Amino acid sequence: MARRPPRAIAGRVVAVTGAARGIGRATAAALAREDARVAIGDLDAAAAAATADELGCVSHELDVTDPESFARFLDWVEAEVGPLDVLVNNAGILHLGPFLEEDEAATRRQLDVNVMGVVHGTRLGLRRMRARGAGHLVNVASSAGKLAPPGIATYVATKHAVVGLTEAVRAEHRDSGVEFSIVMPGVVRTEMIAGYAASPVVKEIEPEDVAEAIVDALRRPRVNVFVPRSLGAVNRLAQMLPRAGGEWLGRALGVDRITWEADRSERTAYEARASRSASR
Ligand code: NAI
Repeated sequence: MARRPPRAIAGRVVAVTGAARGIGRATAAALAREDARVAIGDLDAAAAAATADELGCVSHELDVTDPESFARFLDWVEAEVGPLDVLVNNAGILHLGPFLEEDEAATRRQLDVNVMGVVHGTRLGLRRMRARGAGHLVNVASSAGKLAPPGIATYVATKHAVVGLTEAVRAEHRDSGVEFSIVMPGVVRTEMIAGYAASPVVKEIEPEDVAEAIVDALRRPRVNVFVPRSLGAVNRLAQMLPRAGGEWLGRALGVDRITWEADRSERTAYEARASRSASR
């Protein structure tokens, strides 16, 4: 079968959540460079406005945990920029530490931002796209949506939820004309990974690497977007091995140590910011 030609990025209306900094910002920048019409939404409205100024795009305050705030954001995007072609549900937070030490507020906050935020975005974005029979929902999960490293148990649960939600909603909308992608990066150099232990086998990647993979998935739609791509093979291997073998390999390679032996004293600034990530 002949390969379909890549889809154009230029002119597409793309909204990116949590794009004041980090992966969202790099994604907005990469899309703006390709002449997409980019709107960024973030809880940190001042940082979002500064980022938008630098990138030559527009921004609006957004709390993904609040469906009314999300609907206002999308209304504004469609009024100011145009009918929504792509929604990148990227906003997310991580509180690091042993599960038994995590306070309930931190647990709820991660569920609110990482799960409910994506639930709201997927539902509100999909309604608009479905009505037009076209669009692309890009949900940023994590390799922690497939694997389960210790030290970030609630975060792992939220990212598994994003993977499952996206898969099931996609199955409900196979012939809708809407594309779905699940982005699963490894360890990405942003403030979120402050204090992570270094690993000889897991190479840290840059937000720009994730941005490039997202742009590529919009050009040539695909569901699983592992970044780096080799993580896809690692995931397949982990699923094929018997449980004991997979766990032994993970420990032997020291993958578990990255989060379990992280230096929490280096995370004070990030954890404080993440603690303010749900405004209600
Ligand atoms: P980051 O902390 O650099 O950026 C996250 C942005 O989301 C911030 O600008 C923050 O203000 C915004 N945000 C937080 N709560 C919000 C809310 N309620 N409403 C709207 N915006 C909100 O984080 P990073 O690393 O760029 O993460 C982006 C996404 O990528 C997250 O979903 C994260 O789980 C995921 N990810 C990150 C990895 C990493 O190693 N950094 C690896 C795999 C996935």
